[in-house]
Amino acid sequence: MIKVRGGERLCGEVPISGAKNAALPAIFASLLTTEPVIIHNVPRLADVETALDLIRNLGKEVVWRAETLEIRGGEELCWEAPAELVQRMRASFLCLGPLLARAGKAKVAMPGGCALGPRPVDFHLYGLAKLGASIIVKDGAVVAEAARLRGHMVYLDFPSVGATEQLLLAGALAEGETVVINPAREPEVVDLAELLRKMGAEVAWDGDRVRIRGRETLGGAEHTLIPDRIEAGTYLLAGAITHGRVRTIGAKPRHLAALLDRLSLAGCEVEFGENWVEVRGPTRPKPVDFRTWPYPGFPTDLQPPMVAFLTLAEGRSTVTETVYAARFGHVEPLLQMGAKIQVSGNVQVVEGVEQLRPAAVEATDIRAGAALVLAALAAPGESYVRGEHHLRRGYESFGEKLRRLGAKVWEEGD
Ligand code: EPU
Repeated sequence: MIKVRGGERLCGEVPISGAKNAALPAIFASLLTTEPVIIHNVPRLADVETALDLIRNLGKEVVWRAETLEIRGGEELCWEAPAELVQRMRASFLCLGPLLARAGKAKVAMPGGCALGPRPVDFHLYGLAKLGASIIVKDGAVVAEAARLRGHMVYLDFPSVGATEQLLLAGALAEGETVVINPAREPEVVDLAELLRKMGAEVAWDGDRVRIRGRETLGGAEHTLIPDRIEAGTYLLAGAITHGRVRTIGAKPRHLAALLDRLSLAGCEVEFGENWVEVRGPTRPKPVDFRTWPYPGFPTDLQPPMVAFLTLAEGRSTVTETVYAARFGHVEPLLQMGAKIQVSGNVQVVEGVEQLRPAAVEATDIRAGAALVLAALAAPGESYVRGEHHLRRGYESFGEKLRRLGAKVWEEGD
């Protein structure tokens, strides 16, 4: 549980960790080679530990040194991923492509839905089948086989982050060229492509597509992960919601363009340099409308924290969630804190209130949890946010970083 005594202005600088969503595919990329893969700037997060448990189970050795991971070994990979680890974290499904490419066969549990609504993997399976895999889904698991994957053209009906990564990973060891049309272009996907390029694959971003030419074997590589734009956006919003002034150090402003645009419209003062961003919150935000959209659109992962901020706006904001069917886990608890939000289909209408009130609330996922902590920081008095384990999945040293900015927060164990 996180205890928050709200009402303090957050001010100061906060260092941003490496991106969780870049770390996870990079860890699975290490399955593609027997040579060492060295990854720097890796955040210490529960989800990263889950990915490491999984690759250890599959035959890899892992050594942590400060923020650096060295992953080696795995001449023989086990082709069955433990179902428990795949169900604990959806991103584990990304081991399917690498296992299939390396071992010729893979069995990975279907990840199922989650608190964000149903999250199918049909694009992943469609793409791998185009690359020549025979796929059957049986007893809740995917069993895929292919003596050698062959590059092919794959059109994605939606620019899915995971499906694009799955195809880049599989394509890196496939024979010939894989072309993904309508790929995701999130910075984390581009970061994975960069790592695969260092491992020996040829990758080219080309207008509406990304091309990857595979190799028979890939080599080791050394790679530094990009900073976490979602973590940065969360701290900038924590400053904004408390009328404070927060500067993030490390994250790239160009990765945050959509958020910074909406924050200026809401009346925040925004400044940035090459590797830092500073936001100063207004006394009361102006309402703003936005819709989530694949990069460079407004990131769905910042939708709940942004909604928390807009609950205090002077007027009505309309927020449309287009990436997930049901990313509204923050709404019920925010209502308990006095927010006025109406959900209709994928639209939230947020009627700003003058003040939020403290409450005991429960986080249902990482970003809903962040939204609730932000709301609690703005609500004068003591709030309790249960479900801290969700925050540990995605925010490194969350309490500590908030305290550096002057927040009164205590982690008390769930
Ligand atoms: N989708 C399908 N079929 C598929 C794949 C996706 O219908 O085969 C749908 C999903 O159900 C969803 C939409 O497409 O509605 C987008 O899913 P996408 O594949 O892009 O997301 P993901 O790869 O599962 C990653 C991040 C998420 C982030 C999304 C969108 C990682 C490990 N996770 O998920 O991050 O919300 O992209 O940007 O990279 C988080 O960090 O809290 C988080 C949930």
